[in-house]
Amino acid sequence: MRSVLVANTLPYRASEAWIYDTVIAPAVVDLRRGLEEQLVQLRPGARVLEVGSGGGQLAVDLATRRRDLTITGVDLSAAQVARATRRAAKAGVGDRVQFVQGDALALPIDDAAFDAVVSVASIKHWPDPARGLAECARALRPGGPLVVVEADRGCRLEDARAFVARWRMPAPVRPLGLVLFRTFVAGQGLDLDDGRRLLAALPLRETSVERIDGTPGVLFRGTRT
Ligand SMILES: C[S@@+](CC[C@H](N)C(=O)[O-])C[C@H]1O[C@@H](n2cnc3c(N)ncnc32)[C@H](O)[C@@H]1O
Repeated sequence: MRSVLVANTLPYRASEAWIYDTVIAPAVVDLRRGLEEQLVQLRPGARVLEVGSGGGQLAVDLATRRRDLTITGVDLSAAQVARATRRAAKAGVGDRVQFVQGDALALPIDDAAFDAVVSVASIKHWPDPARGLAECARALRPGGPLVVVEADRGCRLEDARAFVARWRMPAPVRPLGLVLFRTFVAGQGLDLDDGRRLLAALPLRETSVERIDGTPGVLFRGTRT
């Protein structure tokens, strides 16, 4: 069976979802810094859509910090949806956070149904990122922010090394982790020019693309017109 590692548009299998959640996801918290700064400004009672919600860490953290938000996560992988649903129930936020299986390229979401749309480390898996982002914009109400974070293909070696140092793996195998990260994660990620090109095609204003300081990540955002 082929792995998502080399065929990155495949849905994560249960074993891959477990490995990602256990080994890598704890480090992804660093990449979310800028995104969370933007989300805390959301109006009371806002509805947030997360595309490629994985094991649900971001949605559950956000719902725990902001008790007024309702959050929907969409993920291609049934295994990830199951993990995320269990995480939300365990954290006691299952009444405000739901996860559904679906494809970023054809979101099972009505037009303008959300006040904010976010996505972390998922777009590199989408077979057609431009179409997925157009779907994100479609799901967003006018004035709402779209914030996307992805591994930066042009990241600095030191930032990649610091990121991999936070993976939950024994130190002796970290050099292998760094090779995997540079090849299959950042190597398939976006760079600043990709971000600018993708944003330019969307119905967004106040767009920006920036590296996330001290991390191998890039954040791009805009406000729905
Ligand atoms: C690297 S994980 C990131 C998970 C989570 N956002 C995080 O930051 O930990 C990428 C996620 O994107 C999901 N994904 C891949 N292709 C997708 C698609 N076409 N539509 C929706 N989700 C997708 C995968 O199943 C996986 O859960």
